[in-house]
Amino acid sequence: MVDAIYIHIPFCQRKCYYCDFLSFSNMNDEIDNYVEHLIKEINLYPKYNFDTIYFGGGTPSLLSPKHINKILENLNFNSNSEITLEVNPITVNYDKLKQFKNSGINRLSIGIQSFDNKILKLLGRLHDDKKAISTYYDARKAGFDNISVDLMFAIPNQTLKILNNDLNILKNLNPEHISIYSLIWEEGTKFWEMKEKHILMPLSNEIEADMYKKIIDFLTKNNYIHYEISNFSKQNFEARHNSKYWENKEYIGVGLGSSGYYNRFRYKNVCFLDKYYGIINISDLPIIEKEIIDKKDSFKYILGLRLLNKGISPREDKYIKICNDLVKKEFLTNTNNKYFLTKKGIFYANDVFLEFID
Ligand SMILES: C[S@@+](CC[C@H](N)C(=O)[O-])C[C@H]1O[C@@H](n2cnc3c(N)ncnc32)[C@H](O)[C@@H]1O
Ligand code: SF4
Repeated sequence: MVDAIYIHIPFCQRKCYYCDFLSFSNMNDEIDNYVEHLIKEINLYPKYNFDTIYFGGGTPSLLSPKHINKILENLNFNSNSEITLEVNPITVNYDKLKQFKNSGINRLSIGIQSFDNKILKLLGRLHDDKKAISTYYDARKAGFDNISVDLMFAIPNQTLKILNNDLNILKNLNPEHISIYSLIWEEGTKFWEMKEKHILMPLSNEIEADMYKKIIDFLTKNNYIHYEISNFSKQNFEARHNSKYWENKEYIGVGLGSSGYYNRFRYKNVCFLDKYYGIINISDLPIIEKEIIDKKDSFKYILGLRLLNKGISPREDKYIKICNDLVKKEFLTNTNNKYFLTKKGIFYANDVFLEFID
C-alpha cells in the first residue's frame, strides 16, 4: 500500500541562476487557482493513510499557511507521519513558520545554499547570511525539532576557506539533517549561459573532490551519519520520505510536472499549467508519461547503492558479475552478501552507477 505523497509547488519569488527545477517566478496571483486544482488532483486518488508527505518545489513556503491547511485537510495521515515543507528563507518570518507548525508541518527543509554573501549573490539568492540564520532560529522558536538545511558546494569562486566557514556555521546551528549538493550545471540556466560565455568557470574536479572530502570528514567528525551520497543526519533523523525513493518504494506525486511511482508504474505529470488544469477539470489524472517497471530493473540497484549503509543484494547473475567487477576495482565492498559503495566508490558514484545501465 502506498504511504508517501510528493506535492509539487511550481512557484518561486525569483529564479535562482543555477536552478532548472520546474518553477515560475512572478506568478503569485496563480497560487490560489493552482492549490484548488492540486486538491482536485489529490482527490482523484484513493484515500490512503500517508506516513510521509513532502511539499517540494519550487518554493512551497510561498504558499500561505491557509493553503497548506487546505491541502492537508484533504489528506489522511497520523500523528507519527513525517510532513516536510521546503522553505526558502526569503519567503518566511516567525509568524508564518509558527502557523505552518500549527497546520501540521513537522519537518522543514531550509534552502540556505551558503552563508557567504558573495556566493549567495552570485547564485541569485534573495537572502543573505543573517536572514538564513534568523530563519533557522525562528523555526526553532516556532517549535520545529526536525530541521534540514540545504547547502551547495563546487560553486564558482567558492574556496575551501569559504566552504569551511559554511560548515562551521552549520555546526553551530546544529540541524538534525543536512543535504549538501555539488553544483550541477544545467542547460538553459543563467549559470549555463555564463559558462558558455566564459564569464563563469566550473571548479576543477580535484577541488570539487577536495571539497566533498572536507564535507564528509567535517560532518562525520561532528556526529552526522553520512547515510546517502548527498545527505547527512543525526541518528534517527534520516529523511523518511526521500529514503522511500532510494529504497525504490512506491509514492504518489501530485502537482505540475511531478513524478510518481504507483501501482508498478513510474509516471510523470504534464508540465504546462493550462494542460494540467484542463485535464484535472475533466476529472482525469494529468499524467503524460507512464512506464511499467520490471522488478529486475537496474534502477533499484542504482538507487539502493545511494543509501550507504543499506547495501544491495542482487540475485541476477548479470548484476552479481557487475558488482564483483566493481569490488575488484575497490568501488564496492561485499559484506555479508551485500554490496556497498566504498569510500573510494562514493567519489566515483556516477561512474559506478553507469556500470548498471544496459
Ligand atoms: C526545491 S529547492 C529547495 C527549496 C527552495 N526552493 C530553495 O531553494 O530555498 C531544492 C534544493 O536543490 C538544490 N539545487 C537546485 N538546483 C541545483 C543545481 N543546479 N545543482 C545542485 N543543487 C541544486 C538546492 O540546494 C536547493 O535547496
Ligand atoms: S533553488 Fe529553489 S528558490 Fe531557487 S529557483 Fe530553484 S526551486 Fe526556486
